[in-house]
Amino acid sequence: MALRVSALPLTFVAHVLAVAAAVLVLVWNIYFRGGLAFESTNKSLIFNIHPVLMLIGFIILGGEAIISYKALPWSKAVKKQIHLVLHAIALILGIIGIYAAFKFHNESNIANLYSLHSWIGLGTIVLYGVQWLFGFIVFFFPGGSSTLRSDSLPWHVLFGMFVYVLAVCTAVLGFLEKLTFLESSGLLKYGPEAFLVNFTAIITILFGAFVVFSAVTPAEVVDDFSYSSI
Ligand code: HEM
Ligand code: HEM
Repeated sequence: MALRVSALPLTFVAHVLAVAAAVLVLVWNIYFRGGLAFESTNKSLIFNIHPVLMLIGFIILGGEAIISYKALPWSKAVKKQIHLVLHAIALILGIIGIYAAFKFHNESNIANLYSLHSWIGLGTIVLYGVQWLFGFIVFFFPGGSSTLRSDSLPWHVLFGMFVYVLAVCTAVLGFLEKLTFLESSGLLKYGPEAFLVNFTAIITILFGAFVVFSAVTPAEVVDDFSYSSI
């Protein structure tokens, strides 16, 4: 039984939440945390690249890639290319974002991969890469037979949504972890920055929810219960 809500208005809400989340994470890292840098004696600036690229690059572009099938007016073939290219950019920016976290740890003599966030995060990016590769081979190049494509599509959608939800959960764990570190080194628990970080995480969850909601609803609702004259 399909949900009788059309996806397009849901994708508008997702775009608005995406812009809000992007603005919040930039304000946090540039205004409150001092900015972004790949090379600096202030190692915190290297870390700041991590949340910015993971949220804007990985979560937001990945989400926009998923909803592109429902949000855009063009042909299926064009939307397929947009879907695969946006996912590729999301994956690349995600890998650079994780590299920034490792670079910050290594240059500050902090151990790597000690947290649940980092374990699930590494798993997520690997699964995302596997999903992309399978999607590319089966649906694009060289492309499977039409039976293989139609048999694997429900798995592609299910696994794609699972990996995406995992990415949103990882980001939320990351916000929690970083804020806990900051609070244990003196940041005000009810101060403006603490609220900003918690709100960014909530907006991220809402964005993820609207991405999933758009994916599980039909592009158009066919009104087969309406009155028709005999
Ligand atoms: C889906 C998005 C994300 C993924 C896949 C991810 C992945 C990772 C990985 C693999 C590490 C380990 C780096 C190392 O051990 O050297 C890491 C570290 C870290 N990340 Fe994320 N991250 C994501 C989003 C975020 C966000 C939004 C924040 C918010 C600030 C964050 C905060 C942290 C912190 C504080 C660390 C250092 C401590 C630790 O290793 O747990 N992450 N992340
Ligand atoms: C990590 C990367 C990927 C993820 C997370 C992902 C996820 C998804 C999701 C959730 C959907 C359902 C969208 C909806 O029904 O509204 C979908 C559909 C689809 N994806 Fe992907 N995908 C990825 C990569 C790819 C790649 C590389 C291709 C190759 C062209 C591809 C081809 C397709 C096709 C053909 C559909 C069906 C669209 C339709 O129902 O008309 N995907 N994907």
